[in-house]
Amino acid sequence: MSTDSEMEQYGPAAIYLRKPERERIEAQAAPFDAKTAVFVADPDEMYVKGKLVKKEGGKATVETDGGKTVTVKEDDIHPRNPPKYDKIEDMVMMTHLNEPCVLYNLKERYASWMIYTYSGLFCVVVNPYKWLPVYDAVVVAAYRGKKRIEAPPHIFSISDNAYQFMQIDRENQSVLITGESGAGKTVNTKRVIQYFATIAAIGAKKAEPTPGKMQGSLEDQIIAANPLLEAYGNAKTVRNDNSSRFGKFIRIHFGATGKLASADIETYLLEKSRVTFQLSAERSYHIFYQLMTGHKPELLEALLITTNPYDYPMISQGEITVKSIDDIEEFIATDTAIDILGFNADEKLGIYKLTGAVMHHGNMKFKQKQREEQAEPDGTEVADKIAYLMGLNSADMLKALCYPRVKVGNEMVTKGQTVPQVNNAVSALCKSVYEKMFLWMVIRINEMLDTKQARQFYIGVLDIAGFEIFDFNSLEQLCINFTNEKLQQFFNHTMFVLEQEEYKKEGIEWEFIDFGMDLASCIELIEKPLGIFSILEEECMFPKASDTTFKNKLHDQHLGKTKAFEKPKPGKGKAEAHFALVHYAGTVDYNITGWLDKNKDPLNESVIQLYQKASNKLLAFLYASHGAADEAAASGGKKGGKKKGGAFQTVSAVFRENLGKLMTNLRSTHPHFVRCLIPNESKTPGLMENFLVIHQLRCNGVLEGIRICRKGFPSRIIYGDFKQRYKVLNASVIPEGQFIDNKKASEKLLGSIDVDHTQYMFGHTKVFFKAGLLGQLEEMRDEKLATLVTMTQALCRAYLMRREFVKMMERRESILTIQYNIRSFMNVKNWPWLKVYFKIKPLLKSAETEKELQQMKENYDKMKSDLAAALAKKKELEEKMVSLLQEKNDLQLQVASEIENLSDAEERCEGLIKSKIQLEAKLKETTERLEDEEEINAELTGKKRKLEDECSELKKDIDDLELTLAKVEKEKHATENKVKNLTEEMASQDESIAKLTKEKKALQEAHQQTLDDLQAEEDKVNTLTKAKTKLEQQVDDLEGSLEKEQDTSSHLERMKKNLEVTVKDLQHRLDEAENLAMKGGKKQLQKLESRVRELEAEVEAEQRRGADAVKGVRKYERRVKELTYQTEEDKKNVTRLQDLVDKLQLKVKTYKRQAEEAEEQANTHMSRLRKVQHEMEEAQERADIAESQVNKLRAKSRDAGKSDSAE
Ligand SMILES: Nc1ncnc2c1ncn2[C@@H]1O[C@H](COP(=O)(O)OP(=O)(O)OP(=O)(O)O)[C@@H](O)[C@H]1O
Ligand SMILES: [Mg+2]
Repeated sequence: MSTDSEMEQYGPAAIYLRKPERERIEAQAAPFDAKTAVFVADPDEMYVKGKLVKKEGGKATVETDGGKTVTVKEDDIHPRNPPKYDKIEDMVMMTHLNEPCVLYNLKERYASWMIYTYSGLFCVVVNPYKWLPVYDAVVVAAYRGKKRIEAPPHIFSISDNAYQFMQIDRENQSVLITGESGAGKTVNTKRVIQYFATIAAIGAKKAEPTPGKMQGSLEDQIIAANPLLEAYGNAKTVRNDNSSRFGKFIRIHFGATGKLASADIETYLLEKSRVTFQLSAERSYHIFYQLMTGHKPELLEALLITTNPYDYPMISQGEITVKSIDDIEEFIATDTAIDILGFNADEKLGIYKLTGAVMHHGNMKFKQKQREEQAEPDGTEVADKIAYLMGLNSADMLKALCYPRVKVGNEMVTKGQTVPQVNNAVSALCKSVYEKMFLWMVIRINEMLDTKQARQFYIGVLDIAGFEIFDFNSLEQLCINFTNEKLQQFFNHTMFVLEQEEYKKEGIEWEFIDFGMDLASCIELIEKPLGIFSILEEECMFPKASDTTFKNKLHDQHLGKTKAFEKPKPGKGKAEAHFALVHYAGTVDYNITGWLDKNKDPLNESVIQLYQKASNKLLAFLYASHGAADEAAASGGKKGGKKKGGAFQTVSAVFRENLGKLMTNLRSTHPHFVRCLIPNESKTPGLMENFLVIHQLRCNGVLEGIRICRKGFPSRIIYGDFKQRYKVLNASVIPEGQFIDNKKASEKLLGSIDVDHTQYMFGHTKVFFKAGLLGQLEEMRDEKLATLVTMTQALCRAYLMRREFVKMMERRESILTIQYNIRSFMNVKNWPWLKVYFKIKPLLKSAETEKELQQMKENYDKMKSDLAAALAKKKELEEKMVSLLQEKNDLQLQVASEIENLSDAEERCEGLIKSKIQLEAKLKETTERLEDEEEINAELTGKKRKLEDECSELKKDIDDLELTLAKVEKEKHATENKVKNLTEEMASQDESIAKLTKEKKALQEAHQQTLDDLQAEEDKVNTLTKAKTKLEQQVDDLEGSLEKEQDTSSHLERMKKNLEVTVKDLQHRLDEAENLAMKGGKKQLQKLESRVRELEAEVEAEQRRGADAVKGVRKYERRVKELTYQTEEDKKNVTRLQDLVDKLQLKVKTYKRQAEEAEEQANTHMSRLRKVQHEMEEAQERADIAESQVNKLRAKSRDAGKSDSAE
């Protein structure tokens, strides 16, 4: 533990991090009896402190600190830790690791405002509900670079350790912050980010802002992302005034040197239902109320909104202001954040406009048409506003809402809608717009935080809702709880892996239990094929599925088959539930009402299509990929319905995909776990409700962590330390003055004392203890120390007493001597000789003094005369010195002036020589350049000639090509003519075909006519045949009667003959008629038929000819096209070549110009050279003159020097 002076570096925060030494020592000295101090279960307080009075037959009697005496089961009392462990910083170090110990440790620390506490791998934070000065810059600086055990628990320590691990282990890091709503996750997340931004800003110089993109520095941008996301994703709830209604994972990337490189954000599960519905004590997303503050009046106008939230029923179902939040201030922050993040003006206005449009959606009204189910708009004013903001046509939008077009099979049909249906569609649409916009903002922020700087490792911070059990749990809660189940599994696994590593390293024999597997059954039940999510997604595919079929399927599949799936236990006043899941943190009842709809999340496609064409660019962009997804789903609908990763994704599928990604990310990191606790429901600072906290400790896995911890060997000490600390327990086993290995010593020591020997193990470098044993050793050590200290004290006291005694003896002896002397003096005091002696003694001394005085006087006089002589001499010498000095100065001045002259001349000479050298060099350079230029010139001329050749060749080519072009054109003309002829011919053919067809038709008609006639004739024949048979019968009759009456009358004979004649006649006529009919009809028919055939053949032939002609025409057409194409190609070639030629000519010209320029340059160089030569000669002359002058001066100065010295 640190000293007070060490804690000074934390500044005013020190007292909130660790108690001063004095207080700690005082607390440790409190009286304590390990055998009787217990916690006892209590119905009101959950656990209270007390004193064990007696234990009997499984019952224990305890006197509580409140003065009550209670008798409880033995299981209901728990041992307390000695005061040494009071307010301990890492709870795993406690001797007794039980629920009440953990609770009271947190409680006592919280009471002293120490809100951070470790519990093994966890850092537990209790929401203080007031701002403590523990996040200042001094504190950041104090935590920088410290190991976890070197500093008091803090979120900064976690952050800094993550940073250190990242640099040392070269591994990604993550900080997982979970907890119930209002527990402080977001506050701590912001602290982590603040920490990295601060330390990065200390080290790095500010990056140059890139115009257009970066508006602020990366640190500023990372911090600015928060206000914007919070404005759109946070809202007031019953538990938290600024509750995040989405989860987020922020990754901060660092470069190889540990500098901030970039950042990105991933979000999860935005609660979009809040846009259209709020409870009475809650509020919708902050942004709505921020916009309505009227702080930016121009926005009110642009969005067509008022400043009264009650004008918008959709967002004023609950409260409209929050005491702890100043909407104007927050709005300024949001608006600035948008600018800092680098959104452009269009995007910014687009965001605000869509937000306004969402707000207006709640005011849309629809009514029922008379005598119909159909809905129709009730006023169009609101729709007009929405349409204006979204860039739509208001009438189209209303039509799409009331009469959406839906796909039935392969056809689109218009469908009627009832009023509730339209209202549902409207609310679904505005929620969708809000959500899409939020997700888009995240994407844009990511684009802007992505700096393209080299990044190597990242530290991710996860701020996501913790496990919770409500009375009514729906799909969203299942997703949250499932996420937490996965995170807990991740924690268990990490802990297991770390333990395993440690045990393996230390060679401890230990049967490993992967605690991550404890959670497997529940996780599998949710996510595996045929699990809850997969059944839900499958049901969403069936149009006929309903909540009941879904529930039945779940029960059929899982009830009684997995222990994690249960039937909910009915209870009074409990909300209806359909199944229960056994999570690690408790059993949760889920209600499945509406899951299918929530999961499918259907939208009015007709309106979406309008959105896609909206003139509000942002809106169109948000939905640009929407239809594509649906179309793909429709095409893959039949066979690919079950295909994974299809474009049509249910909410749960998206969630699962995101969670999968998150888990993969996390698995590649070294995790740090932070657990936030909400101490009370009333937001009171300093008050901790035991039940609430214990419930959270169970839910967030802290107690689970301790449970796992207790199964292994949580306490461990290095052998050296162990020996040193616990040697006192039995010092005799470690012989003094003889070397003994620390491990051996520890083994011997532990073996010799009276403890449970199964409770510890020896590793290679450490000794491992089960929870509790170390406490026992500590107690033994304390007892032993107490006896030892008493003994030492006794010895010391005895030693001191003995010394005192010796002194006392000496004092007694001295008193005796003094007494003896005084007595002797008293005896001789009046003796005369002694009196004489006293009188003489002072005189002896004064005679001697006189002589000494005389001698001193003599000495003094001598000294005085000496001094006067010396002074006179000094004066004389001083005068001389002054004159000499003056002389010297004069001479020096003269010399200096001479030297100056000399150096001046030398300098000038040097300068001239230098300029001469320079000029020579320049001359050389220029000559060289001239040579180069000449060479280039020659080369260029060569090139030019070559290019000219090439050019002429190309020209020839062009001519050739032009010729061919002309030829081809001619050919084209010919072909075109031919085509024209053919077309004409074809037209005439067509005409004749038409004529023939007409004729054919006429013939067919005639044919028909003839057939009809034939039919009539046949009918006639039939009637005649009938008459004939009748007549024959009559004849037969008559013949019969004739035979009978043959002999009666001749007259009858005659009659008979007559009749026979008539009969014959009739017969003849009949035959004739028959023949006639037969012959005439058939012949005509045959004739007609053959004519028809002929005509048909003719028509066919004509048609064939026509087809041939068409084919021919097509062929010619194709040829024409080909030729046209070719000519075009040729033309293009020609132009291309022409271009080339032009270019080359241009080049030639530039080369020529360059050559001329070079020549000119060469000439100027030449003239300059000449000038320089001339100058040089002049300079030479001047130098000579100067030199002679210098020589003269030198001689003069020498003369002067000589005369000086002579003087
Ligand atoms: N460390 C702290 N210091 C001071 N106040 C705090 C601290 N942590 C939390 N609070 C207070 O508690 C409130 C809720 O905290 P926060 O918003 O972080 O909760 P949360 O866990 O993110 O909840 P939710 O899940 O609803 O988003 C804060 O607005 C703040 O007033
Ligand atoms: Mg939050």
